[in-house]
Amino acid sequence: MCGIVGAVAQRNVVPILLEGLQRLEYRGYDSAGLVVVHDGKLERVRSTGRVVDLTEKSATTQGHIGIAHTRWATHGVPSERNAHPHISKNHIAVVHNGIIENYEELRSRLTTAGYEFTSDTDTEVIAHLIHSHYAHGTSLLAATQASLTELVGAYAIGVIAADNPDQLICARRGSPLLLGVGIDEHFIASDVSALLPVTRKVVYLEEGDVVELGRLAYQIFDATGARVERAVQTSEMSNESVQLGEYTHYMQKEIHEQPQALADTLESVCNSQSLVPGIFGAEAAATFADINSILILACGTSHHAGLVAKFWLEEIAGITCNVEIASEYRYRTSVPNPKSLVVVISQSGETADTQAALNHAKSLGHGHTLAICNVAESALVRLCKLRMLTRAGPEIGVASTKAFTTQLAALFLLTLVLAKQRGRLTAEQEQQHLHELRHLPSAVQKVLELEPQIAMLAVKFANKHNALFLGRGLHYPIALEGALKLKEISYIHAEAYPAGELKHGPLALVDKDMPVISVAPNDALLEKLKSNLQEVRARGGELYVFADANTHIHAADGIHIMQMPEHAGYLSPILHTIPLQLLAYYVALQKGTDVDKPRNLAKSVTVE
Ligand code: F6R
Repeated sequence: MCGIVGAVAQRNVVPILLEGLQRLEYRGYDSAGLVVVHDGKLERVRSTGRVVDLTEKSATTQGHIGIAHTRWATHGVPSERNAHPHISKNHIAVVHNGIIENYEELRSRLTTAGYEFTSDTDTEVIAHLIHSHYAHGTSLLAATQASLTELVGAYAIGVIAADNPDQLICARRGSPLLLGVGIDEHFIASDVSALLPVTRKVVYLEEGDVVELGRLAYQIFDATGARVERAVQTSEMSNESVQLGEYTHYMQKEIHEQPQALADTLESVCNSQSLVPGIFGAEAAATFADINSILILACGTSHHAGLVAKFWLEEIAGITCNVEIASEYRYRTSVPNPKSLVVVISQSGETADTQAALNHAKSLGHGHTLAICNVAESALVRLCKLRMLTRAGPEIGVASTKAFTTQLAALFLLTLVLAKQRGRLTAEQEQQHLHELRHLPSAVQKVLELEPQIAMLAVKFANKHNALFLGRGLHYPIALEGALKLKEISYIHAEAYPAGELKHGPLALVDKDMPVISVAPNDALLEKLKSNLQEVRARGGELYVFADANTHIHAADGIHIMQMPEHAGYLSPILHTIPLQLLAYYVALQKGTDVDKPRNLAKSVTVE
């Protein structure tokens, strides 16, 4: 959460900072700010609105060095006084992403030393700490390094000083940060999308790195203070992939990108004649031969992907699979099994709880680790022995869409590879699955054609306050995902239940004002589901059913049917996700919410 961008150049950096912030706004958007050095003084502009408001306010601001920030509030309400950058004694300015856990203790020490605090943030202690060291005549680099040794917690920071117009210091531990290398200019940013207009040459920083950047050169120091070289890489992210193009919202764009995202994720497999463990990394075959169970750790939507995978892994590969919410697993006493493959699933690869859960699992002796992730250079990918990258491309809308369906595709591949290795997949079955995977992108494209119908259906939800989602078996996690999408972007309270659970309590909620949305694939549980739907109808509940062909569920008074084009067997959860994403999107449009930046949320949850 929170986005950082910084620049030191020969030109005015303010437009670079503002463009970068705009591109990082998905990381947090309750306030924004920037600071530059101009005529030996710090000039700061902050705003509680969005980056567009900051842009208006900084129309006359200029400088050749600056740092900027877009915030997702942790300590202190969203307000101008809590917006970054934070400044100490008009001299040191800091932007920060992360949480400083010992800030109260530092704050009281610095207050006693005469520093006046003007915000409620944890970040302000960093500015004063650096100032306290800098005031004693050390360099800005040394003052920052000394201050970092006193911090407990996670940070990515950018630092500048009023009397130092060609030096930007940055550091990271636990929060992402990278350098951008230009021609006689250097940049920092939380992610590469912020820098695409100015450079594609980037250096991914390691945990504990501290960097001194000037216009012409930079030096990196590792956690021990030793000078190190890090590879300069060329980012392949295209500028178009982070632009809205013909769409109204990123979420809509990303829903429509799913056929391509799935085709890209499955490319290597679909172009070959057989499935090999190597798609998960060079050591995958040996690792898979040594495991007897799977432990999936993830949060939110990624956790829902894990719940679908459990069905696949147990039924097709015959391997026990447990799925845990990362923020719970990291704090509970579990029974470790070193023969278990720990699979972390994450769009961003930055999620603090998922990272902590992985580290916790490792500390318990879990050595077999696999990351399924959409960001190649992310912390989670680097922390795992095996990896499978989803190739969804940048996901900017806060509500996860294409990341989810590509995670499902990757998890299905994992299932098939394990099933094959465990002798549970005949050559004929393997070819059949490969055939279905090749067909998947066009099957998703067909489902997207339901968009106009779903847009019309969404009108009926505009005045609703609650909704129930039902699914069974493999599709119960899809009901969970549909409910999550609806609540996070339309603010309608939504719950999901396995349809068989209704009569154990939630049926009491059903009346004419309660829309009940059901995922109805043509699978072995269809007849059971139909009985559950009757129970709802008998109590006056209004049913919205996403039904596969030949389910023989017919539209009637109080029963609205959305006909899905085909039944996709084991891949059906992927197809059934699409209409629920579209429903949430169009209901949010009806309600006039900020679809891509729903209230109180941010894209990458890099704090606990
Ligand atoms: C919901 C959503 C979140 C994320 C969760 C995990 O639409 O996007 O629930 O899925 O915060 O994020 P990642 O996948 O980046 O670890």
